[in-house]
Amino acid sequence: MHLFITFEGPEGSGKTTQIRLLADRLVASGLPILVTREPGGTRIGNAIRAILLDAAHTEIMPRAETLLFNAARAQLVDEVIRPALTAGKIVLCDRYADSTLAYQGFGHGQDLAPLRQVGNFATAGLRPDLTIFLNIDPTAGLERKRATTEEWNRMEEKKLAFHQTVRQGYLQLASVEPDRWFVVDAAQAIDEVHEMIWHRVWDQISRIE
Ligand code: TYD
Repeated sequence: MHLFITFEGPEGSGKTTQIRLLADRLVASGLPILVTREPGGTRIGNAIRAILLDAAHTEIMPRAETLLFNAARAQLVDEVIRPALTAGKIVLCDRYADSTLAYQGFGHGQDLAPLRQVGNFATAGLRPDLTIFLNIDPTAGLERKRATTEEWNRMEEKKLAFHQTVRQGYLQLASVEPDRWFVVDAAQAIDEVHEMIWHRVWDQISRIE
């Protein structure tokens, strides 16, 4: 068994909740899992995460930002993700290389080709088997997040138009690789979203076994 599942979506799309529900159900089914997240997931990654999300770091340049996200990613892949996959675990990762294409590429208007190259270098070519995109209007997502958390980081402060562009970017990425991407309407109730994800993941597991 080798199954690497990533979750993507805008702020407030419910990624964290859905990852937890999926993880609980996989564990209840007796399957070994590992849950991690970007940026972060390692000591080095968390240090980089603190630089990236600090609201005081307004001068950070797009290329520097891109490389920092990828540095955290490289560390996570080598230290955590690959070893877990080798050990036969199902890996669930909150954000991965597609976040860079969506935010630093579509969001900041950087060319996708070099971003893909840097991403391939950072991941040493490790691609997700399945990417779940929690599709929600950024207005609804940001409202949800504002209502539920005190934390309001640098990325979230970016204006709404940026988040709309990021969402369209994700949908474009999903449309060119429909086999890898599973787009879920995240405006639905939590349980309904979970059921859809569960059926898609279970289908994938049955095909492997
Ligand atoms: P985080 O607090 O983890 O938010 P979320 O719960 O939405 O994942 O912050 C991660 C932020 O970093 C989020 O705004 C998306 C952004 N990001 C990028 O811009 N590029 C990347 O490559 C990654 C992994 C995240």
